[in-house]
This record gives sequence, C-alpha cells and structure tokens, in this order.
Amino acid sequence: MNVLVLNGPNLGRLGSREPDVYGTASHADLVAYCTQAAESLGLSVEVRQTDSEAELIGWLHEAADAGAAVVLNPAAFTHYSYALRDACAMVPGPLIEVHLTNPASREDFRHTSVVSAVANGVISGFGVFSYILALQAVAALAPNEG
Ligand code: DQA
Repeated sequence: MNVLVLNGPNLGRLGSREPDVYGTASHADLVAYCTQAAESLGLSVEVRQTDSEAELIGWLHEAADAGAAVVLNPAAFTHYSYALRDACAMVPGPLIEVHLTNPASREDFRHTSVVSAVANGVISGFGVFSYILALQAVAALAPNEG
C-alpha cells in the first residue's frame, strides 16, 4: 500500500524548533525513520512537509484520487482548519492523525482537533515514534494485497 506521510507548518524545522518540546530529530531524520519502518512493514512511503495550507490540501486530494493511505501531522492547522478537515474527509483511508507531543497536556488551544473526527485514529505524544506507530496502524488496517 502507498502511504503519504504529510507534515504541516513548522515541522520542517524539527531539530532546531523548540527541541525541549519537539525533540532533536530533524525532518530529514524523520524521513529516514519512516522510510526504514515502512520498508519493514511492506509499505511504500513518501514523506512531505509544507508550511502551506493550500499545498497540504492538494496533497490530500492526491491521496484521495490515488487511494493512498495518509499519516498526517497537521501541526497548528489541527486546531482550526476546517478546509483541511474537509479534505481529510475525502480520503477513503486509512488516515491516521499524528502528533509528536501530546496536545492534551499542552495549552488549551491545542486541546481541540478539527481533524480527529475524520481520522481513523490519533497517535500523540511519542515523538518521532508516533509516526512509526501510525505506519504500523496503516499496515494493520490496509487491505491485504497478498
Ligand atoms: C504538533 C502539535 C501542534 O499543536 C503544534 O502546532 C505543532 C506540532 C505536534 O506534532 O506535537 O506544530 O502537531
């Protein structure tokens, strides 16, 4: 199964962005971890990052058209982008929402996700390992192609 791992705004700065909050792994490290995990799970993965809401929505349209699974860290868009939520609703799935941190333990504005209701599930709080868990979930949910 093809999987798009999509990262929203500011995640390209992983490693230097508030390392006490988001950890020291860079976005390039995240790409390497996801690629390695996907390979061992028999998934084909592409990891992308954008700071643009329009570009992220375009990638979700692409996943919807291709029938690809999505692992999505919407970053700050999580908390207010209904446009992103509507694009997620078009993805036939699986679509897993991920977060490096646990938004429920942070500021109040992070407690709302407008995306969660249209995701198969949410994995939060495990740093880059959240993505590995999400890829495992995709592998478990994906129709057996064998
Ligand atoms: C985040 C949590 C969001 O609240 C924040 O805006 C991010 C990253 C996370 O991965 O923990 O940019 O999605």
